[in-house]
Amino acid sequence: MGQDRIGIVTGGGDCPGLNAVIRAVAKAAHRRGWESVGILGGYDGLLEPRRHRPLDYRELGGLLQRGGTILGTSNRGRFAAKVGHGDAQRIPSEVLDAAKRGCETLGLSALVAIGGDGSLSIAQQLSEHGIPIVGVPKTIDNDLAATVMTFGFDSAVACATDALDRLHTTAESHERVMVLEVMGRYAGWIAIYAGLAGGADVILIPEIPFRYEGICAKIAERERLGRHFSIVVVAEGARAEGGEFVTSGAEEQNREARLGGIGAQVAAELERRTGKETRIVVLGHLQRGGGPTNFDRALCTIFGTTAVELIAGGDFGRMVTYTGAQVTSVKLSDAVGQLRRVPLDGGFVRSARALGICLGD
Ligand code: F6P
Repeated sequence: MGQDRIGIVTGGGDCPGLNAVIRAVAKAAHRRGWESVGILGGYDGLLEPRRHRPLDYRELGGLLQRGGTILGTSNRGRFAAKVGHGDAQRIPSEVLDAAKRGCETLGLSALVAIGGDGSLSIAQQLSEHGIPIVGVPKTIDNDLAATVMTFGFDSAVACATDALDRLHTTAESHERVMVLEVMGRYAGWIAIYAGLAGGADVILIPEIPFRYEGICAKIAERERLGRHFSIVVVAEGARAEGGEFVTSGAEEQNREARLGGIGAQVAAELERRTGKETRIVVLGHLQRGGGPTNFDRALCTIFGTTAVELIAGGDFGRMVTYTGAQVTSVKLSDAVGQLRRVPLDGGFVRSARALGICLGD
């Protein structure tokens, strides 16, 4: 099979940098004389009625900094490799067959799948089904074990840090406790990075079940020091000791649980226990919207060109990764299904503790 026509698909939740990867892949492919085709609306675009568009090199202006994905994406539909609280699920073989037929009909010699754990699990199953595929790790959650950084994460942290800077000034003016709920699913990366970058007093992450006594003690200590306001960052997947994950909305079949709401619970309980006026801000999809940071633009670009190098070398069934020192690749099968969570003995937790930041334990 020649490598003269490659497909690009974006799956799962969007995040800043998707367009930057699409641009890098299509540009690098164009320079090798290959055509690029964008699959629209996520993997479902490979199925009947197929949805796709040519990615003409000359139409790619302005993509580096543009948020979202020009291809559209979806975290629902006929491909669901993760359900509930991240449980793996096999995709029906008739759906995999139909996707393979879609690739053949479109004349694709390779497919670049840009996604997080769920979408890369789909990519892995498509790869096992005989589709030549390479993956690019996307997610604001930064929770893939095979890469020290996914693209989109830095942009989400920038958004959360900006929110903390803003909350600081209003919290101080009104002598309030401000609670900021951030995303991240079952990993506390956004919370701990932004919490450190934004000078939070309390950071609650899924990796450390929290107790209210510790948080209230921290707020009281600040009061004694004349600091009459406190900033609390809560990851959406954080939970009290012995408590359950807090979810929002009804559970939907074939979808991952929607986390959200723990921030409001924490705020209400802190107000009740400390008597201090407390407000809650749920940052939500602001973390996923808008354009990528400089770091993400560069990471996306290197990820995209590395994906094209893999295709040129016939190295399918792999995902590009960032080791902290270089961009390389690992087998997709080694990349999916292993969540990277904040290590309790790692630098971020140690640094937070060294500063006296309350982690809820
Ligand atoms: O995985 C990315 C993410 O933004 C999570 O941090 C969050 O829990 C989830 O997606 C939200 O998904 P949705 O866009 O379906 O509400």
